[in-house]
Amino acid sequence: MNERISDAELMDPVFLERWSPRSFSDEPMTDGELAALFEAARWSPSCFNNQPWYYVYETDGEGRQAILDTFLERNRQWAQRAPLVGLVIARSTLEGHLARSRDFDAGAAAMAMVIQATMLGLSAHLMVGIDVDAAHKLIGLDPDVGKVVCGFVIGRRGDPSALPDPLRERERPSDRKPASAFAFKGTRLQLPDGPSPVAG
Ligand SMILES: Cc1cc2nc3c(=O)[nH]c(=O)nc-3n(C[C@H](O)[C@H](O)[C@H](O)COP(=O)(O)O)c2cc1C
Repeated sequence: MNERISDAELMDPVFLERWSPRSFSDEPMTDGELAALFEAARWSPSCFNNQPWYYVYETDGEGRQAILDTFLERNRQWAQRAPLVGLVIARSTLEGHLARSRDFDAGAAAMAMVIQATMLGLSAHLMVGIDVDAAHKLIGLDPDVGKVVCGFVIGRRGDPSALPDPLRERERPSDRKPASAFAFKGTRLQLPDGPSPVAG
């Protein structure tokens, strides 16, 4: 397994502890854990405190399966064991600054939820690989009112040996380019000449 190493002593370890597994145990989450996740999202910053995020989620029964069915097969195959499945939505009926930042704000709130999950010993995996039209249809959302941005699952990490071969090999934290490749002191953005370095 890759070991994630921080270049900054003062960074909180929670950021290295978070990664996106595909193996989940089916152990249910507690009501307290669920509440903490959405409460963390609640306190996220947003443009003019507009809070343009919504979540539709389910933990059991037909509704849970219906949400899973909106995930593309390549995601559903591993996501189906996780106890909490859901969709992240951003409000579309916004104009000006609010419209410009709605996905950013919904993403910030999602990250708060993911970090809170990590702090509770849970794992989260966000996924853009969903059938957006099917998701809109399922939750009864007019695209003029809101946009389904991505799906997510949250739960406890499970046994990776239950994953199909190609996924099992990828079941590890990934690396990153260094902060010096994207954070520039001064007034100039310094893009690399070649293709951007992607760390596996
Ligand atoms: C908006 C978003 C969409 C993503 N979509 C998918 C997806 O459809 N399927 C998948 O397996 N992982 C998906 N991921 C997970 C990323 O691949 C993962 O975060 C990235 O490779 C970095 O790995 P890490 O989260 O384990 O650090 C998504 C992540 C984000 C933030």
